[in-house]
Amino acid sequence: MTLPAESVAALGQRVWEVVSGHVLGGRSELAVAAPGACAEAARLRREPLPDAPAADPLLLVDEVGRSLREGNAHPDHPDFLAFVPAPGTVTGVLASALAAGFAVPTGWSFTGAVSSAIESATVRWLVELLGLAPGTSGLFVSGGSTANLTALTAARDALVGTEARGATAYFSDQTHLSVPRALHVLGIGEERVRVLPSDAHRRLSPDDLRRRVAEDRRHGLRPFLVVANAGTTATGDVDPLPELAAFCREEGLWLHVDGAFGAPAALTGRGRALLAGLDEADSVSVDPHKWLFQPAGTGCVLLRDPVFLTRAFGVELPGYLEAGAPGGEGGEVDYLNWGVEQTREFRALRLWLSLKVFGADAFRAAVRRGLDTADDIASYIDSRAGLEVVTGPSLAVVTFRGLVPPARRSLPAPEDTDRMVDEVCRELRSEGRAMLTGVTVGGRRVFRLCVINPRVERAGLRAVVDRVAALWAARAASAERSEGIS
Ligand SMILES: Cc1ncc(COP(=O)(O)O)c(C=O)c1O
Repeated sequence: MTLPAESVAALGQRVWEVVSGHVLGGRSELAVAAPGACAEAARLRREPLPDAPAADPLLLVDEVGRSLREGNAHPDHPDFLAFVPAPGTVTGVLASALAAGFAVPTGWSFTGAVSSAIESATVRWLVELLGLAPGTSGLFVSGGSTANLTALTAARDALVGTEARGATAYFSDQTHLSVPRALHVLGIGEERVRVLPSDAHRRLSPDDLRRRVAEDRRHGLRPFLVVANAGTTATGDVDPLPELAAFCREEGLWLHVDGAFGAPAALTGRGRALLAGLDEADSVSVDPHKWLFQPAGTGCVLLRDPVFLTRAFGVELPGYLEAGAPGGEGGEVDYLNWGVEQTREFRALRLWLSLKVFGADAFRAAVRRGLDTADDIASYIDSRAGLEVVTGPSLAVVTFRGLVPPARRSLPAPEDTDRMVDEVCRELRSEGRAMLTGVTVGGRRVFRLCVINPRVERAGLRAVVDRVAALWAARAASAERSEGIS
């Protein structure tokens, strides 16, 4: 399967034209998401296997580029404010191509001496950027879910062994779904997973934790793990890390901090203060594909003592691998011994190239911008009639609600206002105007904005909020009219 060199050059050029048309400023004039059901997706799902070669590969690239632009939502778009956006840098995209072009096997330092060294250096830089304890190390994985699974495996093996008989784990009800799922994979079933109700500030209460751990110990169980949030997905709140770290030390528990979304706030002075205690964790998850601006599929897991990765994942090398290794200089890491993958993507190159090209200060400034944008939009929401901030700004997340007009004779039922939040979000999306999601805070649906994209402009964001207010007001008025008729 080869192509003539001229065809490869033309194809490469066309791929770059399509990609650069999107990533170099071509995002803001695009609808943030396709309105309604995607007919193109339905067609693609049914396509038969192509036995014969394409008549025109250039056309194919054009077509798939157009489909991706028109049929997908765009998490890198400045008006994508839902979930955790993915505002990637162009260097991350280029590094993906560079890495794929060299078929680099980064699992083993003998054949991947340079790629393993780059990964080690990038991890060391990340540890420095986040202000973690010297000696902390880890590896790149596919994302926060895998990072959590990797860290929790190390914790289980370190403290309770693979059987994990009677082992119990603790975290708040604000914790990401990947944490209970990781425990399920590790054989720690629901009956031994303590999902503690969060406090009024949506944080894990150290007092509740202490009580529950003591109770479980009294019943002969083996508490081993606390998972804390450094930025919950819903509201960006941070668990009380210093208190939790002190408690875990006292009790001999492993503290894992899920900073998949929020940990990069520690690149700024303000964020570092909010995340005080992050450096006391036994393990931390952080997703460069979120607030460090890399392409999807770039996560990282960091352990204060990486020997626990080798204990959990280390394997005896079969002869065909063992035989090749020449003596290195020392310090080389065979990443196949630190995680579940042997043949691995060279994900680290994305962050490495981006840090080298732009410099760490550009990253600090971009993260600071997210924090500042959240402050600005929260003040704007509170200054506007008809809306009020519910939570935040916290790590670039703000939630808010629409108010019911004071002239209204009776208040709508809470279920009606819950429904209206989701309807407004759907309507905005169908206009192609912006992507927002509702979240549940204190039992009620509210609007949520996540503004980590440094390309978010204040004026554009205020216009989105104005549109939410207008759609909300229209719904509140029509709810009142229909109530009046009935
Ligand atoms: C706090 C947190 N943890 C874990 C994850 C899972 O990350 P991924 O989607 O990269 O697997 C997310 C995703 O948004 C998250 O916000």
